[in-house]
Amino acid sequence: MPNSLRLEFDNLIIELTAQDITDPALSDALNRLKEVLRYNAPGGKRNRGLSVIGSLRELVPPSKLSLDEIHRALLVGWCIELLQAFFLVADDIMDASVTRRGQPCWYKKDGIGLDAINDAFLLEGSIYRLLRRHCRGQSYYIHLLELFTETELGQTLDLMTAPPHKIDLDRFTMERYKAIVKYKTAFYSFYLPVAAAMYMAGIENETEHNNAKTILLEMGEFFQIQDDYLDCYGDPAVTGKVGTDIQDNKCSWLVVKALGIMTPEQRKGLEACYGRSDAESVERVKALYDTLEMPIRYHQHEEESYQRLQKLIQLHAKNLPHAVFLNFAKKIYKRNK
Ligand code: IPE
Ligand code: MN
Ligand code: MN
Repeated sequence: MPNSLRLEFDNLIIELTAQDITDPALSDALNRLKEVLRYNAPGGKRNRGLSVIGSLRELVPPSKLSLDEIHRALLVGWCIELLQAFFLVADDIMDASVTRRGQPCWYKKDGIGLDAINDAFLLEGSIYRLLRRHCRGQSYYIHLLELFTETELGQTLDLMTAPPHKIDLDRFTMERYKAIVKYKTAFYSFYLPVAAAMYMAGIENETEHNNAKTILLEMGEFFQIQDDYLDCYGDPAVTGKVGTDIQDNKCSWLVVKALGIMTPEQRKGLEACYGRSDAESVERVKALYDTLEMPIRYHQHEEESYQRLQKLIQLHAKNLPHAVFLNFAKKIYKRNK
């Protein structure tokens, strides 16, 4: 992590856990918060957080950006990273995951367990304490609050489409898939950071926001398709996490796409081994994916998606600098982590 950002986050930890302004009786709780923040907030790629300041720099000429505004953009970026940390701590419990960002998932640590649920709430609460302290006086404050709170229904759909021990492949349609990923990933990972920068730059126009949203939700959908592909085909040493989608009965892009091209016999075979945690069943699903050449199909999809995105940018980013979208796209296409 660049030094300046490291410092920035250390300062936020100090601010969030300052003992002098709170009741001394809370000092143990604040120490816990400090530990939770240190373990869960840094250590990611920070694409989401950094794209707030990155986008703001494209939207406002450098001479018109004050130090205070830069500082607030970095802060809002860290708030998105906190939102992500909050989701991930909870998501790893729900998905029974083992590692995250190359270390044990927080709930897997000795002595943590389901207390991690409360830690997730602590992370979520930290977002609003920071926004209140730093942005309450800004005209865009209410817009930020609305953006940050529009993010939970996707995970609901993800979980409802993957009930444990109830295998029903009919549930896994492309339509359902698109709804899940739009609301569980694309909105907060792609639209939120750029929308925050737009509001900070004074752009409130609904049409402009819808234009940006069209492009960014498409990018976000592709990002989750990559995540699903890497869940099965990624290298855990690089991604920092071990895949669980097959075991968890998830409506993954791989299973949806595979269902569209497999024979009725293959479908029967899949029915017998999807959503089970024994190694043999998982291997059988992976062997079927290999037979159906899923890696080749994924790379084809990546190429098509990239072309479609370029078109969407030409079409919808008439008044917005293309760099806002292209910078983001550059970071995600062909990624392996
Ligand atoms: C969950 O999607 C997205 C969140 C809102 C956290 P996944 O369950 O596929 O995410 P990973 O693979 O665990 O990171
Ligand atoms: Mn997960
Ligand atoms: Mn995943």
